[in-house]
Amino acid sequence: MSAPTKAPEKAEKKATVKRAIKPTEQAHPAQASQPAKRERVFSGIQPSNIPHIGNYLGAIRHWVAEQDRYDNIYCVVDLHALTIPQDPAELRQNTRNLAALLLACGIDPKRSALFVQSHISAHAELAWILNCVTPTGWLNRMTQFKVKAGEDREAASTGLYDYPVLMAADILLYQADGVPVGDDQRQHVELTRDIANTFNHRFGETFVEPRALIREVGARIMALDEPDKKMSKSGAEPSYLSLLDPPEVIRKKIARATTDSQRTIVFDESRPGIYNLLTIYQMLGDESREQVETEFAGKGYKEFKAALADRVIAALEPIQRRYAELASDPAQLDALLAEGAARVRPLAEQTLRLAKERVGLI
Ligand code: AMP
Ligand code: TRP
Repeated sequence: MSAPTKAPEKAEKKATVKRAIKPTEQAHPAQASQPAKRERVFSGIQPSNIPHIGNYLGAIRHWVAEQDRYDNIYCVVDLHALTIPQDPAELRQNTRNLAALLLACGIDPKRSALFVQSHISAHAELAWILNCVTPTGWLNRMTQFKVKAGEDREAASTGLYDYPVLMAADILLYQADGVPVGDDQRQHVELTRDIANTFNHRFGETFVEPRALIREVGARIMALDEPDKKMSKSGAEPSYLSLLDPPEVIRKKIARATTDSQRTIVFDESRPGIYNLLTIYQMLGDESREQVETEFAGKGYKEFKAALADRVIAALEPIQRRYAELASDPAQLDALLAEGAARVRPLAEQTLRLAKERVGLI
């Protein structure tokens, strides 16, 4: 666990930002005529509860689908989970469960590094250094803090307030080019860019400025019961579909999902309930919107909801089966997570060393 002791000056000279590209303007690798070295992506997910279908469609599914395209690092961000009160035993369980579920969804440890945030202490260390270049005014603008802190902002933990800086440290430590996330994380990735930019200007090129990779469709799956709010793990039970919900629960939740008093089953954004359900339906199949609309032309909500439930159940069944196998062997899971951390730790430590040197720590 101890940091390498080799001559720091040498390591630092080598540790320049080799991959410092200007991310936003850069052509997407798929469009570039000659894709150069694979870009690196980093993303995280909190072990605060079982992920829901919004996490899956907005994030996890893309991580899985694009493993061959990128150099991938995925992290179970347990330190972020601590920003709201956690029961220690539950946190331990949720951390392992989430790792098992990510593997069950198709994260392949051969192609992607999967690890637990607290296993690499550089995250917390770099967060401190970044704290010292981040104006509090920037954090005051973060909407997620305002939402999570609620009415009594003074009672929220300092960690919750500082959450985005820890997230910046996660991303910058690995010199990630892209951050595949749902739409709710856009502001945090922008803040990460601002922090990297400020640091680079003040102390010299140190960090790659990452860009958010956000899909147009599915980046914001809404709550089933209140389709004007995003689906969230902290919402009430009937508001989300957990990836581990059994079939009968899925049927019940979908049957009760809020729609409206109109009859047509069409993608109309001004009708958020049915729009959201149709989005989930379309994303889990391979038809176009038009094909989906044709399929349900003249049919009722009941019929559509039954078809949606069938589709969700069919999509989750293989995930749930693999999950049950993986979760039954915690020792193997822990070994896998340790391997994931070992793979990326040198990179994190190299960046941390460089950042420390840049700010004048001896
Ligand atoms: P979290 O559960 O907050 O750690 O989020 C994990 C990932 O899921 C992040 O990339 C989020 O942006 C994404 N995500 C969370 N909620 C939703 C949602 N309702 N729709 C789409 N993506 C989401
Ligand atoms: N804040 C993210 C969320 O709530 C989780 C997260 C933590 C993350 N660190 C990250 C996402 C780094 C992407 C990159 O969804």
